[in-house]
Amino acid sequence: MTLAHEKPEVVPAHNLSDTFGLLLTSKKHVADGIVAIELQDPGGGDLPPWEPGAHIELIFGEAGIVRQYSLCGNPLDRSRWMIAVLREDMGRGGSLAIHDHLVEGSAVQVRPPRNNFALVPGNSFAFIAGGIGITPFLPMIAQLERAGADWQLHYAGRSPSSMAFADQLVSDYGEKVRLYPKSQQQILGVDGVVASLPDETEVFACGPIRLLNEIGDVCAARHITPHVERFSAAQSAPQPVGEDTTFEVELARTGTTIVVEPGQSILEAAEAAGADVFGSCLEGVCGTCETRVLGGIPDHRDFVLEGSQKDTMMICVSRAACPRLILDI
Ligand code: FES
Repeated sequence: MTLAHEKPEVVPAHNLSDTFGLLLTSKKHVADGIVAIELQDPGGGDLPPWEPGAHIELIFGEAGIVRQYSLCGNPLDRSRWMIAVLREDMGRGGSLAIHDHLVEGSAVQVRPPRNNFALVPGNSFAFIAGGIGITPFLPMIAQLERAGADWQLHYAGRSPSSMAFADQLVSDYGEKVRLYPKSQQQILGVDGVVASLPDETEVFACGPIRLLNEIGDVCAARHITPHVERFSAAQSAPQPVGEDTTFEVELARTGTTIVVEPGQSILEAAEAAGADVFGSCLEGVCGTCETRVLGGIPDHRDFVLEGSQKDTMMICVSRAACPRLILDI
Protein backbone atom coordinates (compact mmCIF):
# COMPACT_ATOMS: atom_id res chain seq x y z
CA MET A 1 0.00 0.00 0.00
CA THR A 2 1.24 3.46 -0.84
CA LEU A 3 1.32 5.85 2.04
CA ALA A 4 -0.67 9.06 1.78
CA HIS A 5 0.20 11.78 4.24
CA GLU A 6 -2.69 12.52 6.56
CA LYS A 7 -2.11 16.24 7.11
CA PRO A 8 0.34 17.81 4.68
CA GLU A 9 0.67 21.07 6.60
CA VAL A 10 4.01 22.83 6.53
CA VAL A 11 5.31 25.64 8.72
CA PRO A 12 6.37 28.40 6.31
CA ALA A 13 10.01 29.45 6.47
CA HIS A 14 9.22 33.03 7.49
CA ASN A 15 7.90 31.70 10.81
CA LEU A 16 11.05 29.76 11.64
CA SER A 17 12.57 32.45 13.83
CA ASP A 18 9.39 32.86 15.90
CA THR A 19 9.62 31.84 19.52
CA PHE A 20 6.79 31.45 21.97
CA GLY A 21 6.19 30.28 25.50
CA LEU A 22 4.61 26.98 26.52
CA LEU A 23 3.90 25.35 29.83
CA LEU A 24 5.46 22.07 30.89
CA THR A 25 2.45 20.06 32.04
CA SER A 26 3.90 16.58 32.50
CA LYS A 27 7.35 15.13 33.20
CA LYS A 28 7.78 11.37 33.48
CA HIS A 29 10.72 8.99 33.74
CA VAL A 30 10.37 6.58 30.81
CA ALA A 31 13.73 4.74 30.81
CA ASP A 32 17.17 4.92 32.43
CA GLY A 33 18.24 8.56 32.07
CA ILE A 34 15.28 9.49 29.87
CA VAL A 35 12.31 11.71 30.72
CA ALA A 36 9.28 12.41 28.55
CA ILE A 37 7.79 15.86 28.89
CA GLU A 38 4.58 17.36 27.58
CA LEU A 39 4.18 21.00 26.61
CA GLN A 40 0.90 22.87 26.28
CA ASP A 41 -0.32 26.35 25.46
CA PRO A 42 -0.75 28.30 28.73
CA GLY A 43 -4.20 29.43 27.56
CA GLY A 44 -5.28 25.95 26.49
CA GLY A 45 -5.20 26.73 22.77
CA ASP A 46 -4.20 24.48 19.89
CA LEU A 47 -0.50 24.20 19.08
CA PRO A 48 0.86 24.58 15.54
CA PRO A 49 0.40 21.46 13.37
CA TRP A 50 3.21 19.02 12.67
CA GLU A 51 3.85 15.79 10.84
CA PRO A 52 5.73 12.66 11.95
CA GLY A 53 9.49 13.20 11.79
CA ALA A 54 9.27 16.84 12.88
CA HIS A 55 11.29 18.35 15.70
CA ILE A 56 10.88 21.43 17.85
CA GLU A 57 13.56 23.64 19.33
CA LEU A 58 13.75 24.55 22.99
CA ILE A 59 15.59 27.69 24.01
CA PHE A 60 17.41 27.71 27.33
CA GLY A 61 18.71 30.48 29.55
CA GLU A 62 19.63 34.05 28.86
CA ALA A 63 22.27 32.94 26.35
CA GLY A 64 19.48 31.51 24.21
CA ILE A 65 21.01 28.03 23.79
CA VAL A 66 18.90 26.16 21.23
CA ARG A 67 18.40 22.38 21.23
CA GLN A 68 16.30 20.18 18.96
CA TYR A 69 14.03 17.38 20.09
CA SER A 70 11.90 15.11 17.92
CA LEU A 71 8.19 15.24 18.56
CA CYS A 72 7.11 11.78 19.65
CA GLY A 73 3.44 12.20 20.58
CA ASN A 74 0.31 12.14 18.47
CA PRO A 75 0.17 14.81 15.73
CA LEU A 76 -3.62 14.55 15.67
CA ASP A 77 -3.73 15.86 19.25
CA ARG A 78 -3.15 19.60 18.85
CA SER A 79 -3.46 20.25 22.59
CA ARG A 80 0.05 19.06 23.52
CA TRP A 81 3.52 18.21 22.26
CA MET A 82 5.60 15.41 23.72
CA ILE A 83 9.36 15.00 23.56
CA ALA A 84 11.70 12.51 25.26
CA VAL A 85 15.12 13.66 26.43
CA LEU A 86 18.20 11.62 27.29
CA ARG A 87 20.31 13.02 30.12
CA GLU A 88 23.74 13.81 28.68
CA ASP A 89 26.16 14.75 31.46
CA MET A 90 28.82 15.63 28.88
CA GLY A 91 26.36 17.38 26.59
CA ARG A 92 25.93 21.09 25.95
CA GLY A 93 23.42 21.80 28.70
CA GLY A 94 19.97 21.37 27.18
CA SER A 95 19.31 17.91 28.56
CA LEU A 96 20.60 18.85 32.01
CA ALA A 97 18.32 21.88 32.11
CA ILE A 98 15.35 19.66 31.32
CA HIS A 99 16.31 16.88 33.74
CA ASP A 100 17.46 19.03 36.65
CA HIS A 101 15.57 22.31 36.46
CA LEU A 102 12.30 22.01 34.59
CA VAL A 103 9.31 20.83 36.58
CA GLU A 104 5.59 20.66 35.94
CA GLY A 105 4.45 24.27 35.68
CA SER A 106 7.74 25.56 34.26
CA ALA A 107 7.60 28.00 31.35
CA VAL A 108 9.52 26.85 28.29
CA GLN A 109 10.55 28.91 25.26
CA VAL A 110 10.13 27.01 22.00
CA ARG A 111 10.36 27.47 18.25
CA PRO A 112 7.74 25.81 16.02
CA PRO A 113 8.01 22.36 14.42
CA ARG A 114 10.20 21.77 11.42
CA ASN A 115 10.54 18.55 9.50
CA ASN A 116 13.78 17.44 7.88
CA PHE A 117 12.86 13.78 8.29
CA ALA A 118 9.38 13.37 6.85
CA LEU A 119 7.89 10.11 5.69
CA VAL A 120 7.87 9.60 1.95
CA PRO A 121 5.41 7.69 -0.23
CA GLY A 122 6.40 4.03 -0.46
CA ASN A 123 5.34 0.40 -0.26
CA SER A 124 7.65 -0.84 2.47
CA PHE A 125 9.44 0.88 5.35
CA ALA A 126 12.26 -0.13 7.68
CA PHE A 127 13.14 1.92 10.76
CA ILE A 128 16.50 1.44 12.47
CA ALA A 129 16.86 3.19 15.82
CA GLY A 130 19.70 3.40 18.30
CA GLY A 131 18.84 4.54 21.84
CA ILE A 132 17.01 7.85 22.07
CA GLY A 133 16.87 7.79 18.24
CA ILE A 134 13.60 5.90 18.63
CA THR A 135 11.67 9.13 19.27
CA PRO A 136 10.88 10.34 15.72
CA PHE A 137 9.76 6.85 14.76
CA LEU A 138 6.88 6.64 17.23
CA PRO A 139 4.52 8.94 15.29
CA MET A 140 5.84 7.68 11.94
CA ILE A 141 5.00 4.09 12.83
CA ALA A 142 1.59 5.05 14.19
CA GLN A 143 0.77 6.81 10.92
CA LEU A 144 1.95 3.88 8.80
CA GLU A 145 -0.03 1.47 10.93
CA ARG A 146 -3.19 3.55 10.44
CA ALA A 147 -2.51 3.56 6.68
CA GLY A 148 -2.06 -0.23 6.64
CA ALA A 149 1.47 0.10 5.26
CA ASP A 150 4.18 -2.56 5.50
CA TRP A 151 6.83 -1.60 8.05
CA GLN A 152 9.37 -3.07 10.45
CA LEU A 153 11.34 -1.56 13.33
CA HIS A 154 14.83 -2.58 14.50
CA TYR A 155 15.62 -0.91 17.84
CA ALA A 156 19.00 -1.29 19.55
CA GLY A 157 19.96 -0.12 23.04
CA ARG A 158 22.26 -0.79 25.96
CA SER A 159 19.75 -2.74 28.02
CA PRO A 160 15.97 -3.21 28.22
CA SER A 161 15.70 -0.60 30.98
CA SER A 162 17.47 2.01 28.84
CA MET A 163 15.17 1.54 25.82
CA ALA A 164 12.35 4.08 26.08
CA PHE A 165 8.93 2.98 24.81
CA ALA A 166 10.22 -0.52 23.91
CA ASP A 167 7.62 -2.43 25.94
CA GLN A 168 4.79 -0.34 24.52
CA LEU A 169 6.00 -0.85 20.96
CA VAL A 170 6.15 -4.62 21.38
CA SER A 171 2.76 -4.64 23.06
CA ASP A 172 1.17 -2.54 20.30
CA TYR A 173 2.85 -3.99 17.23
CA GLY A 174 4.21 -7.44 18.11
CA GLU A 175 6.60 -9.02 15.66
CA LYS A 176 6.99 -5.91 13.56
CA VAL A 177 9.27 -4.69 16.36
CA ARG A 178 12.70 -6.27 16.88
CA LEU A 179 14.63 -5.24 19.99
CA TYR A 180 18.40 -5.58 20.38
CA PRO A 181 19.43 -4.91 24.01
CA LYS A 182 23.20 -5.30 24.09
CA SER A 183 23.17 -6.43 27.74
CA GLN A 184 21.34 -9.55 26.59
CA GLN A 185 23.77 -10.21 23.75
CA GLN A 186 21.14 -9.18 21.23
CA ILE A 187 23.23 -7.37 18.65
CA LEU A 188 21.76 -5.42 15.75
CA GLY A 189 23.38 -6.69 12.55
CA VAL A 190 22.84 -3.89 10.07
CA ASP A 191 24.17 -6.01 7.20
CA GLY A 192 21.66 -8.78 7.83
CA VAL A 193 18.74 -6.40 8.37
CA VAL A 194 19.36 -4.46 5.17
CA ALA A 195 20.03 -7.64 3.15
CA SER A 196 16.64 -9.01 4.21
CA LEU A 197 14.61 -5.97 3.17
CA PRO A 198 12.20 -6.21 0.24
CA ASP A 199 13.24 -4.27 -2.85
CA GLU A 200 12.40 -0.55 -2.77
CA THR A 201 12.10 -0.45 1.00
CA GLU A 202 12.43 3.07 2.40
CA VAL A 203 15.03 2.93 5.18
CA PHE A 204 14.85 5.49 8.00
CA ALA A 205 17.59 5.68 10.62
CA CYS A 206 18.17 7.73 13.76
CA GLY A 207 20.73 7.17 16.47
CA PRO A 208 24.46 7.46 17.24
CA ILE A 209 26.75 8.66 14.47
CA ARG A 210 28.62 5.35 14.28
CA LEU A 211 25.36 3.47 13.67
CA LEU A 212 24.23 5.98 11.06
CA ASN A 213 27.55 5.76 9.23
CA GLU A 214 27.35 1.95 9.20
CA ILE A 215 23.79 2.08 7.88
CA GLY A 216 24.90 4.52 5.18
CA ASP A 217 27.72 2.20 4.07
CA VAL A 218 25.58 -0.94 4.06
CA CYS A 219 22.73 0.75 2.22
CA ALA A 220 25.10 2.21 -0.38
CA ALA A 221 26.23 -1.33 -1.26
CA ARG A 222 22.57 -2.15 -2.03
CA HIS A 223 22.02 1.15 -3.84
CA ILE A 224 19.58 2.29 -1.16
CA THR A 225 19.61 5.90 0.01
CA PRO A 226 18.59 5.88 3.67
CA HIS A 227 16.68 8.74 5.28
CA VAL A 228 18.79 9.82 8.22
CA GLU A 229 18.16 12.21 11.12
CA ARG A 230 21.36 13.70 12.52
CA PHE A 231 21.67 16.17 15.36
CA SER A 232 25.49 16.21 15.15
CA ALA A 233 27.84 16.09 12.19
CA ALA A 234 28.73 12.99 10.20
CA GLN A 235 32.41 12.15 9.90
CA SER A 236 32.61 13.27 6.30
CA ALA A 237 31.33 16.72 5.36
CA PRO A 238 29.87 17.63 1.97
CA GLN A 239 32.40 19.07 -0.43
CA PRO A 240 32.29 22.86 -0.46
CA VAL A 241 31.56 24.45 -3.83
CA GLY A 242 34.30 27.04 -3.43
CA GLU A 243 37.17 28.21 -1.22
CA ASP A 244 36.47 30.58 1.65
CA THR A 245 36.45 34.17 0.42
CA THR A 246 35.25 37.49 1.78
CA PHE A 247 31.71 38.42 0.75
CA GLU A 248 28.94 40.80 1.73
CA VAL A 249 25.53 39.98 3.12
CA GLU A 250 22.65 42.42 3.06
CA LEU A 251 20.37 41.87 6.06
CA ALA A 252 17.09 42.68 4.33
CA ARG A 253 15.01 43.39 7.46
CA THR A 254 17.22 46.31 8.46
CA GLY A 255 18.99 47.16 5.22
CA THR A 256 22.35 46.68 6.98
CA THR A 257 25.24 45.22 5.01
CA ILE A 258 27.80 43.08 6.80
CA VAL A 259 31.11 41.66 5.61
CA VAL A 260 31.84 37.97 6.20
CA GLU A 261 35.53 37.19 6.34
CA PRO A 262 37.19 33.81 5.62
CA GLY A 263 37.05 31.67 8.77
CA GLN A 264 33.94 33.48 9.98
CA SER A 265 30.37 32.26 9.45
CA ILE A 266 27.45 34.38 8.31
CA LEU A 267 25.83 33.54 11.64
CA GLU A 268 28.80 34.92 13.57
CA ALA A 269 29.02 38.05 11.46
CA ALA A 270 25.28 38.71 11.73
CA GLU A 271 25.30 38.10 15.47
CA ALA A 272 28.22 40.51 15.88
CA ALA A 273 26.15 43.11 14.02
CA GLY A 274 23.33 42.67 16.53
CA ALA A 275 21.00 40.72 14.25
CA ASP A 276 18.39 38.35 15.66
CA VAL A 277 19.80 34.98 14.54
CA PHE A 278 19.84 31.52 16.11
CA GLY A 279 22.25 28.60 15.91
CA SER A 280 22.60 25.32 17.72
CA CYS A 281 24.81 22.59 16.19
CA LEU A 282 26.94 25.11 14.24
CA GLU A 283 27.82 22.17 11.97
CA GLY A 284 25.10 22.36 9.33
CA VAL A 285 23.11 19.39 10.57
CA CYS A 286 20.24 20.58 12.75
CA GLY A 287 18.48 23.24 10.66
CA THR A 288 18.14 25.79 13.49
CA CYS A 289 19.84 28.58 11.56
CA GLU A 290 17.86 28.07 8.33
CA THR A 291 17.43 31.45 6.64
CA ARG A 292 15.57 32.50 3.52
CA VAL A 293 17.73 33.60 0.58
CA LEU A 294 16.35 36.69 -1.17
CA GLY A 295 19.22 37.30 -3.57
CA GLY A 296 22.61 35.98 -4.66
CA ILE A 297 23.97 32.44 -4.96
CA PRO A 298 24.62 30.44 -1.78
CA ASP A 299 27.47 27.95 -1.47
CA HIS A 300 25.56 25.24 0.41
CA ARG A 301 27.70 23.27 2.87
CA ASP A 302 25.06 21.78 5.14
CA PHE A 303 23.64 18.29 5.62
CA VAL A 304 20.00 19.37 5.85
CA LEU A 305 18.86 20.77 2.51
CA GLU A 306 18.39 18.48 -0.44
CA GLY A 307 17.83 18.88 -4.17
CA SER A 308 15.26 21.53 -4.82
CA GLN A 309 15.04 22.90 -1.25
CA LYS A 310 17.47 25.68 -2.01
CA ASP A 311 15.57 28.90 -1.40
CA THR A 312 16.97 28.85 2.13
CA MET A 313 20.44 28.25 3.54
CA MET A 314 22.13 27.23 6.78
CA ILE A 315 24.09 30.30 7.79
CA CYS A 316 26.27 28.49 10.35
CA VAL A 317 28.29 26.75 7.62
CA SER A 318 27.11 27.81 4.16
CA ARG A 319 28.73 30.74 2.42
CA ALA A 320 28.36 32.73 -0.81
CA ALA A 321 29.25 31.67 -4.34
CA CYS A 322 28.94 35.32 -5.40
CA PRO A 323 30.14 38.68 -4.01
CA ARG A 324 26.88 39.57 -2.21
CA LEU A 325 23.96 37.70 -0.70
CA ILE A 326 20.64 39.17 0.43
CA LEU A 327 19.14 37.26 3.34
CA ASP A 328 15.87 37.49 5.25
CA ILE A 329 17.51 38.56 8.52
S1 FES B 1 23.00 25.80 13.65
FE1 FES B 1 22.53 23.75 13.09
S2 FES B 1 22.36 23.87 10.91
FE2 FES B 1 23.10 25.80 11.51
